Amino acid sequence: MYIKDLSQFEGQEITLKGWVSNKRESKGLVFLILRDGTGLAQCILDANNVNEEIFNNARRLGIESSLSLSGKVVKDERQIGGFEVQVNGLEVYQYTENYPIAKKEHGVDFLMDHRHLWLRSQRQWAIMRIRNQIIYSIHRFFQEREFVQMDAPLFTGNACEGTTNLFETEFYGEPAYLSQSGQLYGEAMAMAMGRIYTFGPTFRAEKSKTRRHLSEFWMIEPEMAFYDIFDNMDLIEDFLRHVTQEVVQHCESELKVIGRDVEMLKKVTAPFPRLTYDEAVRIIKGEQNVEGKNSILTLEDDLAKVKARIIKVQQEISDREQRIATPGMKKGEIAFNQRKVDDLKSELRDLEEDERNIPQWLESARGFEYGNDFGGSDETVLTRLFEVPIMVYNWPHAVKAFYLKRDPENEQFARGVDVLAPEGYGEIVGGGERETDLEKVRNKIIEHELPMHEFEWYLDLRRFGSVTHSGFGLGLERMVAWICKLPHVRETIPFPRMYGRLFP
Ligand code: 4AD
Ligand code: MG
Repeated sequence: MYIKDLSQFEGQEITLKGWVSNKRESKGLVFLILRDGTGLAQCILDANNVNEEIFNNARRLGIESSLSLSGKVVKDERQIGGFEVQVNGLEVYQYTENYPIAKKEHGVDFLMDHRHLWLRSQRQWAIMRIRNQIIYSIHRFFQEREFVQMDAPLFTGNACEGTTNLFETEFYGEPAYLSQSGQLYGEAMAMAMGRIYTFGPTFRAEKSKTRRHLSEFWMIEPEMAFYDIFDNMDLIEDFLRHVTQEVVQHCESELKVIGRDVEMLKKVTAPFPRLTYDEAVRIIKGEQNVEGKNSILTLEDDLAKVKARIIKVQQEISDREQRIATPGMKKGEIAFNQRKVDDLKSELRDLEEDERNIPQWLESARGFEYGNDFGGSDETVLTRLFEVPIMVYNWPHAVKAFYLKRDPENEQFARGVDVLAPEGYGEIVGGGERETDLEKVRNKIIEHELPMHEFEWYLDLRRFGSVTHSGFGLGLERMVAWICKLPHVRETIPFPRMYGRLFP
């Protein structure tokens, strides 16, 4: 019996097992908010309905005490989930005291140090369930289309995505790396199976703290024989739409818990704009508008709005703080104002972050040099102008991976495609059509100063039945961050591994 099913048991006696998420007492009553992993429910103990021992035991319960209780399910629309339990039996497994995560706000470092407990809080619960739905939908999408799931090795001898962020390790005395990507193995398997996808952990030593980089992250890498870059983009679009719409469909209550604007996700059903690198650069630099919106003017306008709002919020905080300090203020009114002040302060922190960021975005947009790869700021500037993911393709070959196919129409470009998520999120997918010409791949391997002999097996794929093929990689945590609209990827994975964080 689980809390999520309470509605099916109205009027009946049930038993629940779980943990105390919150407790409140008033004369002769104990109100528990019980958490069982599937949801939350209010459970009431009335001193008139239970014996004294049970009632006193309930009063002793601290946050996160574990227990089993039985009682009657009663409809009450004001309660979480619409039902509550009138308790008549209680068995306590463990009484707790001083649970470290209190209601009051904690700093991020404190919460990260207590990640093993933080996962129990409602917001984290919702994020992890959405992550689970995303994983399930990804498998469904590919399995329904008869892609073969393959597991690529995690110990590798060769680099795939550049040599700067490789995690070096040792393999029976030989140097080896933790895999940055399963792609090269995926290409081999695609020649055996036609269409495949990997779903596994990948490792990159990203020696800086950013909101989008983990050292260990999960990647989904489909690879398809006989797909060119345009077939690839069609698949990416279908895929991202399928996954987001399934989340909207199946995670209504989780999205509500985290306050996600579901309307934004529903828009992902519209076609994704496809921009060449050249077009994207013109938009970033403000030389081309998007539906009347200009990147530079929009940023300047946003900055002015942020500054005006900061002044207003600061004023309101000080007004309410004065009211709180006024002698003779009623308890309820103090609490009400304090809550408002807390909310305003949190809004102020976000505004101040925007006030710091926007000038940087402006600077990088104005100063963007044609030919460069996009940095985080460039992606933010570009994606703020769109409501759905965009696909940027045909990149200058010099800034992209060695395996990408040169554009037959202009050899300066490679047939790579990046998908940038809207609302300022930026890159969630990187992919492209693969070079099939043996000599061209060889030249690229030399240009990237990679050891040729380690790539001989990969070159065999160009020697024996080479065909047009394409693929892409979706970063699972980037996807979760965008779908949940989280400020940082650290909350998208149960136990993040990133620069400066190996525990818990
Ligand atoms: O763009 P990337 O480097 O592409 C590849 O690895 C290709 N081999 C994929 C392919 O074509 N099969 O990485 C793909 C995606 C990025 O778009 C991003 O979402 C994610 O992986 N990613 C990271 N996510 C979290 N932390 C990091 N350090 C990441 N690096 C890449
Ligand atoms: Mg990339």
